[in-house]
Amino acid sequence: DTELVKKGEKVFKKCKACHQVGEGAANKTGPMLNGVVGGPIGAVEGFKYSKGMAELGEAGETWNEENLTAFLTKPKSFIKKTKMGFAGLKKEDDINAVAEYLKSVSQ
Ligand code: HEM
Repeated sequence: DTELVKKGEKVFKKCKACHQVGEGAANKTGPMLNGVVGGPIGAVEGFKYSKGMAELGEAGETWNEENLTAFLTKPKSFIKKTKMGFAGLKKEDDINAVAEYLKSVSQ
């Protein structure tokens, strides 16, 4: 749905200070986000994750609609000591949109 992707691109402006996505994306304050939706948690090469996020990855957990929504709503409730210094997105619509955008640019 292109409207949702467009909306997600706008929402992603809030993430851009720390994250890159798309061709040539690199790790910055946060890991690059190519392939993150549906992909393994805490597994980007060369990025130093918080203990909590690294442990989810080691346990074989992957990002899905449910846990991504939980994390983006309130990062510090999802992982107590996450390094992601972001208050969270209040609207579920924004979360769905940014997830669609991330899928569209990286898969
Ligand atoms: C981690 C998304 C905003 C810094 C992550 C992860 C996702 C994500 C999906 C997990 C990556 C993985 O498993 O490899 C987003 C989205 C944002 C956003 C969609 C905007 C709505 C930000 C901002 C910052 C930031 C503004 C910096 C102030 C980080 C850091 C991590 C992270 C440091 C690693 C967390 C840890 O190790 O616990 N982000 N992020 N993010 N993000 Fe964000």
